[in-house]
Amino acid sequence: MAKQKTAYVCQNCGAKSPKWIGKCPSCNEWNTYEEEIIISSKSPGIFSQTNFTGNKPILINAIENSNYSRLSTSNNEFDRVLGGGIVKGSVILLGGEPGIGKSTLLLQVAQQISCKVLYVSGEENAEQIKLRSERLKSGNEEIYFLSEILTENIINHAKNIKPELIIIDSIQTLRVEHVESSAGTVTQIRESANRLLEYAKENSVPIILVGHITKDGSIAGPKVLEHIVDTVLQFEGDNNFNYRILRAFKNRFGSTTEMGIYEMQQNGLQEVKNPSEMLMSHHAEQYSGISICSTIEGARAFLVEVQALVSTAAYGTPQRSSTGFDAKRLNMLLAVLEKRVGFKLSTKDVFLNLAGGLKVKDTAIDLAVICAILSSDVDRAITLQTCFVGEVGLSGEIRQAQRIDQRISEAEKLGFKRIFIPMQGKEMTKKTSIEVIEVDKVEHVFNKLFS
Ligand code: TYD
Ligand code: MG
Repeated sequence: MAKQKTAYVCQNCGAKSPKWIGKCPSCNEWNTYEEEIIISSKSPGIFSQTNFTGNKPILINAIENSNYSRLSTSNNEFDRVLGGGIVKGSVILLGGEPGIGKSTLLLQVAQQISCKVLYVSGEENAEQIKLRSERLKSGNEEIYFLSEILTENIINHAKNIKPELIIIDSIQTLRVEHVESSAGTVTQIRESANRLLEYAKENSVPIILVGHITKDGSIAGPKVLEHIVDTVLQFEGDNNFNYRILRAFKNRFGSTTEMGIYEMQQNGLQEVKNPSEMLMSHHAEQYSGISICSTIEGARAFLVEVQALVSTAAYGTPQRSSTGFDAKRLNMLLAVLEKRVGFKLSTKDVFLNLAGGLKVKDTAIDLAVICAILSSDVDRAITLQTCFVGEVGLSGEIRQAQRIDQRISEAEKLGFKRIFIPMQGKEMTKKTSIEVIEVDKVEHVFNKLFS
């Protein structure tokens, strides 16, 4: 029998070395090399110009426009993030921290979609899945469960059952037969993913793979996995809150700006249809340090509550803490405040929090952050019917935000009376029942709010 060829493979980036090395020269990570058996590649043979097979080059103009056919899952948030449903033959990778609800989400998708589904789990057994499925509402009679970790077997079962959607929980538990390294190693993940991809493309069957994530938040296994698949989704949330957010990081068939919001309840993940209501705490009383921003994620506008607490610094170095908002940006805004409105930066502790555990990337939230800080600093509440939109620049100028009309309408819809927006420089075309106040400098906002 021929001797098996082995090599050491970096579990982080996939680089190979004939010997074990401590530090990977390609990605600079330590202790990532593991021995793996290499699959012998076919001998290249003699290249002949006459008998090669494969695709021929074609003119782009001659390619027919194909409308991707999509499967609707009846889970509106899931469909939206994917760009309008699952594209047939696509491979989707769903990443997220343990316990965040990946398995729950996918079982729910399986139960809501109306087609034959093969649900493969290498992590949970049939009883566990049954228990879980009893907690969730099901409308789909045709869900097959398979507890299996061999990729070849999964594909054979799929060939027999002919499902229209395959769900695999998780890619890290799979292995292919002729590679001897253990499940979860780079070679196993890559080989299994490639086999599944081939099956998906040949049979136009979409496959959703669950991927574990590492400590630093990236999907465990080779980076190539993210390149192979068509769509990478991330399921995130804060364990202290019940809200879960689904985002697309890569999407060959749609935008990556959409976001799906769910709430984890006793009977599974419920879609949050009106995020604004969930993201604001409803107080009857007015407190200082609270302001509301009209923000945009993907196609939707919604309102987020910003909470700030400013107190006198007890120790030499003032404390800064920020949840849901970039800490560096907070420091920048505080420096702007010091320069423009005389905020004494070095003597104040500042704590900032976005209600609901949401992370907002929209820079138009800056103005609301500044107003919350100022409100807490002077200990005067901003009336609850006021909200803010605007990015703040380094010299204290308030910069434009995209899709201002949509933000105003959302605030109007939720019963707000006043909205501060950046100076438009033109007549607002749309008539609104809400009072629109245009501001161009931070110091003007301060005067308008508190004097
Ligand atoms: P799970 O889907 O197992 O997470 P993952 O696959 O990402 O590791 O989610 C597990 C958590 O969800 C667990 O803490 C229990 C909770 N949960 C509910 O709150 N309600 C439910 O209906 C279900 C099924 C789970
Ligand atoms: Mg799971």
